Amino acid sequence: MKAKDYSSIVVLTGAGVSAESGLKTFRDSGGLWEGHRVEDVATPEAFERNPALVHEFYNMRRKQLLESATANAAHEALGHFEKHFTGAFNLVTQNVDNLHEQGGSRNIIHMHGELLKIRCNACERVQEWEIETDENSICPLCQNKGSLRPHIVWFGEIPLQMERIEQVLLSCDLFVSIGTSGNVYPAAGFVQLARSVGAHCVELNLEASQGALLFNEQIYGPATKVVSEFFDI
Ligand code: APR
Repeated sequence: MKAKDYSSIVVLTGAGVSAESGLKTFRDSGGLWEGHRVEDVATPEAFERNPALVHEFYNMRRKQLLESATANAAHEALGHFEKHFTGAFNLVTQNVDNLHEQGGSRNIIHMHGELLKIRCNACERVQEWEIETDENSICPLCQNKGSLRPHIVWFGEIPLQMERIEQVLLSCDLFVSIGTSGNVYPAAGFVQLARSVGAHCVELNLEASQGALLFNEQIYGPATKVVSEFFDI
């Protein structure tokens, strides 16, 4: 059966869906991520210790996203599917890029935050953001200096919108995991939740993930191919 044969679908995506758009995945690069150790750039402690480095790291990633990454056929297939599907469709992504939006998806939950948004630790508001920041940047909303931080869920922080994600998982009849290695919780546990309500669970990935055997069906290949085929509508 294909995605269109179900009535309530939850899709989880990870870095693999954006790999063919030129954005590096996390665990395919020898433990380093864009040349940095995760502990140096993606934890609250790192930001406290060296905010300049963390701002710089996300400035670089934001620039790379804006200047060189565009949606690929997998993002577009998901966007096209959502537009024509008559059932319930929720896309949960661990990715902080905006390529699903570019591909036409609308009902998106960014559980690990968004690169093109910034959060103020003083007024706690989140706003769209495309320019550079540093440790002296001023929040345009509250005028506080030095309180902006990337709107990114770092290691040790709680992912966003977990209640809503659990709710949609508990009422789906199809769960599809795309381009994620299954290393990072809670996302890696979504398959068990979906199975607990009898949903059919499918893994679409380049290779078997950590939790591959928890899925009812596995289809391996580049996302641009396997996602386009499975979500044909
Ligand atoms: N098509 C499909 N899958 C691919 C492709 C491709 N072209 N290229 C790579 N993959 C697969 C890899 O085989 C791997 O299983 O994508 C997966 C990427 O895994 P990770 O690099 O671990 O990325 P992800 O699972 O998204 O990481 C989860 O970890 O570092 C944190 O917060 C970060 O959101 C991230 C989380």
